[in-house]
Amino acid sequence: MPGSIIAGVGMYVPENIYTNNDLTKLMDTSDEWIQERTGIKERRFAHRTNETTATMGIEAAKMAIERAGITAQDIDFIIFATLSPDYYFPGCAVLVQRAMKMKEVGALDVRNQCSGFVYALSVGDQFIRSGMYKNILVIGSEKHSFVLDFNTRSRHISVIFGDGAGAVVLQPSKDDGSGMLSTHLHSDGNDAEMLAMYNPGSHANYWHKDLADFDDAELGEMFESHAMIDKYQNLPVMDGQAVFKKAVLKFPEVIMEALNKNGYQPSDLGLLIPHQANIRISRYVQQKLRLRDDQVYNNIQKYGNTTAASIPIALCEAWQDGRIKKGDLVCMAAFGSGFTWASALMKW
Ligand code: UT7
Repeated sequence: MPGSIIAGVGMYVPENIYTNNDLTKLMDTSDEWIQERTGIKERRFAHRTNETTATMGIEAAKMAIERAGITAQDIDFIIFATLSPDYYFPGCAVLVQRAMKMKEVGALDVRNQCSGFVYALSVGDQFIRSGMYKNILVIGSEKHSFVLDFNTRSRHISVIFGDGAGAVVLQPSKDDGSGMLSTHLHSDGNDAEMLAMYNPGSHANYWHKDLADFDDAELGEMFESHAMIDKYQNLPVMDGQAVFKKAVLKFPEVIMEALNKNGYQPSDLGLLIPHQANIRISRYVQQKLRLRDDQVYNNIQKYGNTTAASIPIALCEAWQDGRIKKGDLVCMAAFGSGFTWASALMKW
């Protein structure tokens, strides 16, 4: 069965811009350090009460649906990728279904962090290929600002992330050679704790006895406890260097896997859209694959790392800027917490 095309793409970023200098008022950091180590100049943070992960996803979805020339009632499946959902449960996809007054269609949430959008695309593509659905809405959205710790102790994490959303509508290809060629999904759970947020959760230190500084009584109430908050153990953790080292290995590997599978070389790529984790990671990948500047799209300078939203936001901007044309070979690739990594190769 033919793979899916992206019939419409949309994005939404909050109005509130926070520059690196704004962050220096909250923690011991500098514009110079952030730009040099990450490439980020500014990021967007959602309105504290009026914007959520789901509402931003809905704005991006409206744009993607309109550009696909359909209505919300035509959507027959929703896939929502995020690590910062509105509720612990249910997921965000049902909130989209309700807010957009869609039919009683299937609604699925994907929990794959930075590679969530590519995983979600892959799931959607399989449903299109099987003939089960004809208009699938795939959203990646994050409101990181709500769980970031704007304090020097977390500066290596909080300066990186930003909020925003992107969305696409998948439809069956029209047999003109366009559409998804293949998707490639991978994981290595050995490093699950390298980039994670343990709490609230049910782990009670099962996986690692030294995860948290709690006694047994406290562990029994770990899902949400005052001790957890007092000891700052409700915050994300990241071993940045370990993530970086693995990312620069796995990005080129999973991109080459997609190109090899379809008989292409890096020089054939019209555009590579890497997950926007760090400009140094993107540049390393570009160098390794010997890609020209015009073959790689980066916008981390403006938005920071928006996790599941970074690829659809970049895809949307690249398309709007005329960087993607009919017939171009486009590769999307991601690496992140889990670790999980993935790629999707398509003919536009
Ligand atoms: O989407 C996937 C998710 N995450 C990633 O892909 C992250 C991958 N990793 C990275 O991007 C980088 O590791 C970071 C940007 C997170 C950190 O850069 P780094 O070059 O690996 O820095 P580092 O953690 O080795 O820290 C170097 C120094 C340390 O000071 P000392 O010990 O050398 O005195 C840190 O305390 O930089 C310090 N530092 C900061 N200084 C100013 C860490 N964060 C900051 C900060 N501002 N925000």
